[in-house]
Amino acid sequence: MALVALTESDSDNGRTAMTDSSQRDALLEARYGQQAAPVNIIWNEQIEALLAHRSVRAFTDEPLPDGALETVVAAAQSASTSSNLHQWSLVAVSDPETKAELARLTHGAEFTGFDFVAQAPSVLLWIADMSRSHAISVEQGGKPVVTDYVDAFLMASVDAALAAQNGLVAAEAIGLGGVYLGSLRNHAKELSDLIGLPAYAYVVFGMAVGTPDPHRPSAVHPRPAQDVVLHRERYRTRPVEEWIEDYETAFKAFRAEYGLRDKTWSHSVAVSTGLDYMDGRENLRRTLEERGYLLR
Ligand SMILES: Cc1cc2nc3c(=O)[nH]c(=O)nc-3n(C[C@H](O)[C@H](O)[C@H](O)COP(=O)(O)O)c2cc1C
Repeated sequence: MALVALTESDSDNGRTAMTDSSQRDALLEARYGQQAAPVNIIWNEQIEALLAHRSVRAFTDEPLPDGALETVVAAAQSASTSSNLHQWSLVAVSDPETKAELARLTHGAEFTGFDFVAQAPSVLLWIADMSRSHAISVEQGGKPVVTDYVDAFLMASVDAALAAQNGLVAAEAIGLGGVYLGSLRNHAKELSDLIGLPAYAYVVFGMAVGTPDPHRPSAVHPRPAQDVVLHRERYRTRPVEEWIEDYETAFKAFRAEYGLRDKTWSHSVAVSTGLDYMDGRENLRRTLEERGYLLR
Protein backbone atom coordinates (compact mmCIF):
# COMPACT_ATOMS: atom_id res chain seq x y z
CA MET A 1 0.00 0.00 0.00
CA ALA A 2 1.35 3.40 -0.91
CA LEU A 3 2.32 5.48 2.07
CA VAL A 4 0.45 8.70 1.74
CA ALA A 5 -0.01 11.35 4.37
CA LEU A 6 -1.18 14.48 2.70
CA THR A 7 -0.99 17.92 4.16
CA GLU A 8 -4.16 19.04 5.83
CA SER A 9 -3.70 22.58 4.61
CA ASP A 10 -6.11 22.65 1.69
CA SER A 11 -5.85 26.29 0.98
CA ASP A 12 -3.10 27.62 -1.21
CA ASN A 13 -3.23 31.02 -2.85
CA GLY A 14 -6.96 31.12 -2.28
CA ARG A 15 -7.59 27.80 -4.01
CA THR A 16 -9.60 25.18 -2.23
CA ALA A 17 -9.01 21.53 -2.86
CA MET A 18 -12.08 19.71 -4.10
CA THR A 19 -11.14 16.26 -2.91
CA ASP A 20 -11.20 14.58 0.44
CA SER A 21 -8.10 12.74 1.52
CA SER A 22 -9.35 9.32 0.40
CA GLN A 23 -9.74 10.64 -3.15
CA ARG A 24 -6.26 12.08 -2.97
CA ASP A 25 -4.89 8.78 -1.73
CA ALA A 26 -6.62 7.03 -4.61
CA LEU A 27 -5.12 9.44 -7.13
CA LEU A 28 -1.63 9.07 -5.73
CA GLU A 29 -2.00 5.33 -5.62
CA ALA A 30 -3.07 5.35 -9.26
CA ARG A 31 -0.03 7.46 -10.11
CA TYR A 32 2.51 5.38 -8.19
CA GLY A 33 0.79 2.02 -7.77
CA GLN A 34 2.02 0.10 -4.76
CA GLN A 35 5.32 1.98 -4.75
CA ALA A 36 5.92 4.54 -2.03
CA ALA A 37 4.15 7.74 -3.01
CA PRO A 38 5.48 11.09 -1.76
CA VAL A 39 4.08 11.87 1.67
CA ASN A 40 4.17 15.64 1.58
CA ILE A 41 2.39 16.74 -1.56
CA ILE A 42 1.05 20.31 -1.26
CA TRP A 43 -2.43 19.78 -2.60
CA ASN A 44 -4.69 22.19 -4.44
CA GLU A 45 -7.02 22.02 -7.44
CA GLN A 46 -4.32 22.80 -9.95
CA ILE A 47 -1.95 20.15 -8.60
CA GLU A 48 -4.79 17.67 -8.46
CA ALA A 49 -5.66 18.33 -12.09
CA LEU A 50 -2.04 17.79 -13.13
CA LEU A 51 -1.79 14.56 -11.19
CA ALA A 52 -5.05 13.32 -12.69
CA HIS A 53 -3.76 13.56 -16.26
CA ARG A 54 -4.39 10.63 -18.54
CA SER A 55 -4.06 10.44 -22.31
CA VAL A 56 -7.42 10.19 -24.06
CA ARG A 57 -7.76 8.16 -27.26
CA ALA A 58 -11.57 7.81 -27.44
CA PHE A 59 -13.79 10.81 -28.05
CA THR A 60 -17.46 11.61 -28.49
CA ASP A 61 -18.58 13.05 -31.83
CA GLU A 62 -19.06 16.52 -30.36
CA PRO A 63 -17.01 19.29 -31.95
CA LEU A 64 -14.83 21.35 -29.64
CA PRO A 65 -17.01 23.79 -27.68
CA ASP A 66 -17.02 27.41 -28.77
CA GLY A 67 -13.96 29.14 -27.35
CA ALA A 68 -12.07 25.92 -26.58
CA LEU A 69 -9.41 26.40 -29.24
CA GLU A 70 -8.88 30.03 -28.25
CA THR A 71 -8.62 29.00 -24.58
CA VAL A 72 -6.04 26.35 -25.43
CA VAL A 73 -4.04 28.84 -27.48
CA ALA A 74 -4.16 31.52 -24.77
CA ALA A 75 -2.80 28.95 -22.29
CA ALA A 76 -0.18 27.83 -24.81
CA GLN A 77 0.89 31.43 -25.40
CA SER A 78 1.20 31.90 -21.67
CA ALA A 79 4.00 29.33 -21.45
CA SER A 80 7.51 30.67 -21.18
CA THR A 81 9.15 31.15 -24.54
CA SER A 82 12.87 31.20 -25.16
CA SER A 83 14.19 34.79 -25.44
CA ASN A 84 10.57 35.95 -25.92
CA LEU A 85 10.86 34.83 -29.55
CA HIS A 86 7.55 32.87 -29.78
CA GLN A 87 9.04 30.34 -32.14
CA TRP A 88 6.09 27.99 -32.37
CA SER A 89 2.82 27.81 -34.27
CA LEU A 90 -0.25 25.65 -34.20
CA VAL A 91 -2.29 24.27 -37.08
CA ALA A 92 -5.70 23.14 -35.80
CA VAL A 93 -7.28 20.58 -38.11
CA SER A 94 -10.97 19.70 -38.01
CA ASP A 95 -11.65 18.97 -41.69
CA PRO A 96 -12.55 15.24 -41.95
CA GLU A 97 -10.50 14.67 -45.12
CA THR A 98 -7.38 16.23 -43.66
CA LYS A 99 -7.90 14.27 -40.44
CA ALA A 100 -8.17 11.05 -42.46
CA GLU A 101 -4.84 11.92 -44.06
CA LEU A 102 -3.35 12.63 -40.63
CA ALA A 103 -4.65 9.25 -39.46
CA ARG A 104 -2.96 7.57 -42.44
CA LEU A 105 0.31 9.38 -41.66
CA THR A 106 -0.02 8.38 -38.00
CA HIS A 107 -1.02 4.74 -38.22
CA GLY A 108 0.10 3.76 -41.72
CA ALA A 109 -2.29 2.84 -44.56
CA GLU A 110 -2.60 -0.83 -43.55
CA PHE A 111 -3.82 -0.04 -40.02
CA THR A 112 -7.20 -1.63 -39.19
CA GLY A 113 -7.49 -0.80 -35.48
CA PHE A 114 -9.56 1.89 -33.80
CA ASP A 115 -8.76 5.11 -35.54
CA PHE A 116 -8.86 7.74 -32.82
CA VAL A 117 -6.99 10.32 -34.93
CA ALA A 118 -9.66 10.56 -37.62
CA GLN A 119 -12.37 10.29 -34.96
CA ALA A 120 -11.05 13.13 -32.79
CA PRO A 121 -12.94 16.37 -33.46
CA SER A 122 -9.68 18.26 -33.64
CA VAL A 123 -6.06 17.39 -34.30
CA LEU A 124 -3.62 20.06 -33.21
CA LEU A 125 -0.26 20.18 -34.97
CA TRP A 126 2.38 21.82 -32.80
CA ILE A 127 5.10 23.38 -34.90
CA ALA A 128 8.64 24.49 -34.09
CA ASP A 129 8.57 27.62 -36.17
CA MET A 130 11.62 29.71 -36.94
CA SER A 131 10.05 31.05 -40.16
CA ARG A 132 8.91 34.35 -38.59
CA SER A 133 12.32 35.01 -36.99
CA HIS A 134 14.01 34.17 -40.27
CA ALA A 135 11.76 36.49 -42.29
CA ILE A 136 12.10 39.36 -39.79
CA SER A 137 15.87 38.99 -39.76
CA VAL A 138 16.06 39.05 -43.59
CA GLU A 139 13.70 42.03 -43.68
CA GLN A 140 15.98 43.85 -41.22
CA GLY A 141 18.93 43.20 -43.51
CA GLY A 142 20.40 40.57 -41.18
CA LYS A 143 21.94 37.23 -42.06
CA PRO A 144 20.01 34.58 -40.15
CA VAL A 145 22.67 31.95 -39.59
CA VAL A 146 21.48 30.78 -36.18
CA THR A 147 18.89 28.59 -37.93
CA ASP A 148 21.79 26.44 -39.15
CA TYR A 149 22.59 25.28 -35.63
CA VAL A 150 21.17 22.44 -33.59
CA ASP A 151 20.54 24.80 -30.67
CA ALA A 152 18.04 26.81 -32.75
CA PHE A 153 16.22 23.60 -33.62
CA LEU A 154 16.14 22.67 -29.94
CA MET A 155 15.01 26.13 -28.87
CA ALA A 156 12.02 26.14 -31.23
CA SER A 157 11.17 22.51 -30.42
CA VAL A 158 11.25 23.20 -26.67
CA ASP A 159 9.04 26.27 -27.17
CA ALA A 160 6.53 24.18 -29.10
CA ALA A 161 6.54 21.46 -26.44
CA LEU A 162 6.01 23.91 -23.57
CA ALA A 163 3.16 25.58 -25.44
CA ALA A 164 1.59 22.22 -26.24
CA GLN A 165 1.73 20.99 -22.65
CA ASN A 166 0.12 24.21 -21.39
CA GLY A 167 -2.50 23.72 -24.12
CA LEU A 168 -3.20 20.15 -23.06
CA VAL A 169 -3.49 21.13 -19.40
CA ALA A 170 -5.95 23.87 -20.39
CA ALA A 171 -7.94 21.43 -22.53
CA GLU A 172 -8.18 19.06 -19.57
CA ALA A 173 -9.22 21.95 -17.32
CA ILE A 174 -12.26 22.64 -19.52
CA GLY A 175 -13.38 19.03 -19.64
CA LEU A 176 -11.62 17.95 -22.82
CA GLY A 177 -8.97 15.30 -23.19
CA GLY A 178 -6.21 14.57 -25.61
CA VAL A 179 -3.13 12.63 -26.54
CA TYR A 180 0.16 13.60 -28.11
CA LEU A 181 0.95 12.09 -31.50
CA GLY A 182 4.71 11.76 -31.92
CA SER A 183 3.87 9.28 -34.67
CA LEU A 184 3.03 12.24 -36.90
CA ARG A 185 6.78 12.63 -37.37
CA ASN A 186 6.85 9.24 -39.13
CA HIS A 187 6.14 11.01 -42.41
CA ALA A 188 7.40 14.48 -41.62
CA LYS A 189 7.84 15.55 -45.22
CA GLU A 190 4.36 14.46 -46.37
CA LEU A 191 2.87 16.15 -43.33
CA SER A 192 4.67 19.43 -44.07
CA ASP A 193 3.31 19.36 -47.63
CA LEU A 194 -0.19 18.46 -46.45
CA ILE A 195 -0.51 21.56 -44.30
CA GLY A 196 1.59 23.89 -46.44
CA LEU A 197 4.39 24.52 -43.94
CA PRO A 198 6.93 27.18 -44.88
CA ALA A 199 10.69 26.58 -44.60
CA TYR A 200 12.19 26.83 -41.10
CA ALA A 201 9.17 25.08 -39.63
CA TYR A 202 8.37 21.43 -38.80
CA VAL A 203 5.68 19.60 -36.85
CA VAL A 204 7.14 18.44 -33.53
CA PHE A 205 4.07 16.34 -32.76
CA GLY A 206 0.33 16.29 -33.15
CA MET A 207 -2.32 16.15 -30.47
CA ALA A 208 -5.77 14.59 -30.85
CA VAL A 209 -8.25 16.58 -28.74
CA GLY A 210 -11.94 16.21 -27.97
CA THR A 211 -14.52 15.36 -25.36
CA PRO A 212 -13.55 12.07 -23.70
CA ASP A 213 -16.02 9.28 -24.47
CA PRO A 214 -17.52 8.37 -21.06
CA HIS A 215 -18.11 4.80 -22.31
CA ARG A 216 -14.42 4.28 -23.06
CA PRO A 217 -12.68 6.13 -20.24
CA SER A 218 -8.92 6.16 -19.92
CA ALA A 219 -7.05 5.68 -16.67
CA VAL A 220 -4.18 7.27 -14.78
CA HIS A 221 -0.97 5.46 -15.78
CA PRO A 222 1.52 4.68 -13.02
CA ARG A 223 4.91 6.36 -13.06
CA PRO A 224 8.17 5.13 -11.51
CA ALA A 225 8.75 6.13 -7.88
CA GLN A 226 10.04 9.66 -7.43
CA ASP A 227 13.53 8.58 -6.41
CA VAL A 228 14.01 7.12 -9.88
CA VAL A 229 13.77 10.54 -11.52
CA LEU A 230 14.56 12.95 -8.68
CA HIS A 231 18.19 13.51 -7.77
CA ARG A 232 19.18 15.93 -5.07
CA GLU A 233 22.25 18.13 -5.57
CA ARG A 234 24.06 15.63 -7.78
CA TYR A 235 23.07 12.91 -10.21
CA ARG A 236 23.22 9.55 -8.51
CA THR A 237 23.65 6.64 -10.89
CA ARG A 238 21.69 3.67 -9.65
CA PRO A 239 21.62 0.12 -10.93
CA VAL A 240 18.32 -0.44 -12.74
CA GLU A 241 17.76 -3.62 -10.66
CA GLU A 242 17.40 -1.42 -7.58
CA TRP A 243 14.08 0.05 -8.67
CA ILE A 244 12.71 -1.66 -11.76
CA GLU A 245 10.90 -4.47 -10.01
CA ASP A 246 8.71 -2.04 -8.09
CA TYR A 247 7.78 -0.21 -11.26
CA GLU A 248 7.19 -3.45 -13.15
CA THR A 249 4.79 -4.47 -10.38
CA ALA A 250 2.84 -1.21 -10.70
CA PHE A 251 2.88 -1.49 -14.50
CA LYS A 252 1.69 -5.09 -14.44
CA ALA A 253 -1.08 -4.35 -11.94
CA PHE A 254 -2.29 -1.44 -14.10
CA ARG A 255 -2.38 -3.59 -17.23
CA ALA A 256 -4.18 -6.41 -15.41
CA GLU A 257 -6.74 -4.02 -13.93
CA TYR A 258 -7.60 -2.57 -17.33
CA GLY A 259 -7.52 -5.87 -19.24
CA LEU A 260 -4.44 -4.94 -21.26
CA ARG A 261 -2.11 -7.55 -22.74
CA ASP A 262 0.42 -8.73 -20.19
CA LYS A 263 3.88 -7.40 -20.96
CA THR A 264 6.70 -5.88 -19.00
CA TRP A 265 7.68 -2.22 -19.12
CA SER A 266 11.30 -3.18 -19.77
CA HIS A 267 10.16 -5.06 -22.87
CA SER A 268 8.50 -1.83 -24.15
CA VAL A 269 11.69 0.07 -23.40
CA ALA A 270 13.78 -2.46 -25.31
CA VAL A 271 11.37 -2.34 -28.28
CA SER A 272 11.55 1.47 -28.26
CA THR A 273 15.31 1.34 -28.76
CA GLY A 274 15.11 -0.75 -31.96
CA LEU A 275 15.16 0.84 -35.40
CA ASP A 276 11.77 -0.67 -36.33
CA TYR A 277 10.21 1.48 -33.64
CA MET A 278 11.18 4.64 -35.54
CA ASP A 279 8.73 3.87 -38.29
CA GLY A 280 10.06 6.52 -40.67
CA ARG A 281 11.37 8.93 -38.04
CA GLU A 282 14.89 7.76 -38.86
CA ASN A 283 14.53 10.04 -41.91
CA LEU A 284 13.67 13.08 -39.83
CA ARG A 285 17.11 14.63 -40.09
CA ARG A 286 16.89 14.66 -43.89
CA THR A 287 13.45 16.33 -43.80
CA LEU A 288 14.67 18.86 -41.24
CA GLU A 289 17.66 19.73 -43.40
CA GLU A 290 15.39 20.17 -46.42
CA ARG A 291 13.25 22.49 -44.33
CA GLY A 292 16.21 24.70 -43.40
CA TYR A 293 17.26 23.21 -40.08
CA LEU A 294 20.89 22.32 -40.77
CA LEU A 295 21.58 20.94 -37.28
CA ARG A 296 25.25 21.99 -37.14
C1 LIG B 1 5.92 13.66 -27.19
C2 LIG B 1 4.90 12.55 -27.01
C3 LIG B 1 4.52 11.80 -28.10
C4 LIG B 1 3.54 10.81 -27.97
N1 LIG B 1 3.12 10.13 -29.08
C5 LIG B 1 2.10 9.26 -28.99
C6 LIG B 1 1.61 8.62 -30.17
O1 LIG B 1 2.09 8.81 -31.27
N2 LIG B 1 0.53 7.78 -30.03
C7 LIG B 1 -0.06 7.54 -28.81
O2 LIG B 1 -1.02 6.79 -28.76
N3 LIG B 1 0.41 8.15 -27.67
C8 LIG B 1 1.46 8.99 -27.74
N4 LIG B 1 1.93 9.63 -26.61
C9 LIG B 1 1.26 9.40 -25.32
C10 LIG B 1 2.08 8.50 -24.40
O3 LIG B 1 2.01 7.18 -24.87
C11 LIG B 1 1.50 8.63 -22.99
O4 LIG B 1 1.68 9.95 -22.54
C12 LIG B 1 2.18 7.66 -22.02
O5 LIG B 1 1.89 6.33 -22.37
C13 LIG B 1 1.74 7.89 -20.58
O6 LIG B 1 0.34 7.82 -20.50
P1 LIG B 1 -0.52 9.02 -19.92
O7 LIG B 1 -0.29 10.22 -20.79
O8 LIG B 1 -1.96 8.54 -20.00
O9 LIG B 1 -0.08 9.25 -18.52
C14 LIG B 1 2.94 10.57 -26.71
C15 LIG B 1 3.37 11.32 -25.60
C16 LIG B 1 4.32 12.30 -25.76
C17 LIG B 1 4.75 13.12 -24.55
